Amino acid sequence: MKKRFCLIYVLALTVVYMPGCKKRAPKEPEITPEVKKEAIPMSANEEPFGQTPDGRQVVLYTLTNPSGLTARITNYGAILVSLEVPDRTGRLDDITLGFDSLDGYIKVHPYFGATVGRYANRIGKAQFTLDGVLYKLAANNDENHLHGGTKGFDKAVWKPVECQADSQKTWVKMSYISEDDEEGYPGNIACTVTYTLTKDNELKISYEAETDKTTILNLTNHSYFNLAGQGTGDILDHELMLNADKYTPVDEGLIPTGEIRNVTGSPMDFTSSMSIGSRIKQVEGGYDHNYVLNSGGGALALCAEVYEPSSGRVMTIHTTEPGVQLYTGNFLDGTLTGKSGRVYNKHYGFCLETQHFPDSPNKPDFPTVVLLPGQKFTSETVHKFSTR
Ligand code: BGC
Repeated sequence: MKKRFCLIYVLALTVVYMPGCKKRAPKEPEITPEVKKEAIPMSANEEPFGQTPDGRQVVLYTLTNPSGLTARITNYGAILVSLEVPDRTGRLDDITLGFDSLDGYIKVHPYFGATVGRYANRIGKAQFTLDGVLYKLAANNDENHLHGGTKGFDKAVWKPVECQADSQKTWVKMSYISEDDEEGYPGNIACTVTYTLTKDNELKISYEAETDKTTILNLTNHSYFNLAGQGTGDILDHELMLNADKYTPVDEGLIPTGEIRNVTGSPMDFTSSMSIGSRIKQVEGGYDHNYVLNSGGGALALCAEVYEPSSGRVMTIHTTEPGVQLYTGNFLDGTLTGKSGRVYNKHYGFCLETQHFPDSPNKPDFPTVVLLPGQKFTSETVHKFSTR
């Protein structure tokens, strides 16, 4: 009880005032990329992003580095709203799917850019047993539980903690307390997410969490990428390499069977770079699978590299997680209109959701997702951008 109080008290004290974060500056005049490099320092700005239906003010943070790489993040769902990245000519395009305003994120959407928790991905039959107690969760994906339930971390208003810039990086940090029994999960969890943009064109997403009762936790970011520019077409020509010799085959409900299978000789093999579309028709429904990273998780290690030939953009991902879900936007069907009025059709974005494996709470042989009181949960994923 004392510990729980302490945990909540510390987070309740978290300052809402954000030193170092500037109110939006006036638009820069048009200047050449060379001059721009000298002229623009690392910067962090904040502006209003609207109000939730229950009257809570939401903010949009803009992080910019000297190459012009710009990440916009809102504290509603700790969502990555946009990511502008230079192509091989220096032209900036927004490479993530999403919405121009808060309204789009408040309506039902497939987790565009969202911070997903408490459990990213699926838990079979929406239940698990921990220390002999059966916990029942929302069955929000047929009979299974998906992405934390009906009101997961993606729908929480996160508390701003810090928004700063120095000569090497600029970052925004937010916190959220998920209370005991929220969405059926045990324990109060105090959690933070920090988005950091570096001068070396990296976007780092790091999580920290603690609990006051034994629980489970699996966090990810659910950005949909299209390296040619969001809403411009499908991602089937993107060339993908995954640092994974194995994956976890699934049943019809996309729950892992428990087998860990070698990718060799199958359309699941991305151990050397291949276009996403080259064998997608051989995979029923498209790619929506967890890969077992060769690193095994723990230390930050290579996860994936994606190259888009027309823009020359390259995204390299390193992570501390043991797995990554490759999801090729199979359920996008043209019913959602996103940023700049662009319609999102099937395969218009891909996700590489770094994570622990789906259904781990019911699969004793998978790496554990149990978090104990006194333990510190940490997880980090780094997206580095370059061109070829
Ligand atoms: C899942 C998909 C799901 C999508 C949107 C992905 O992480 O693997 O099956 O449709 O998220 O919810």
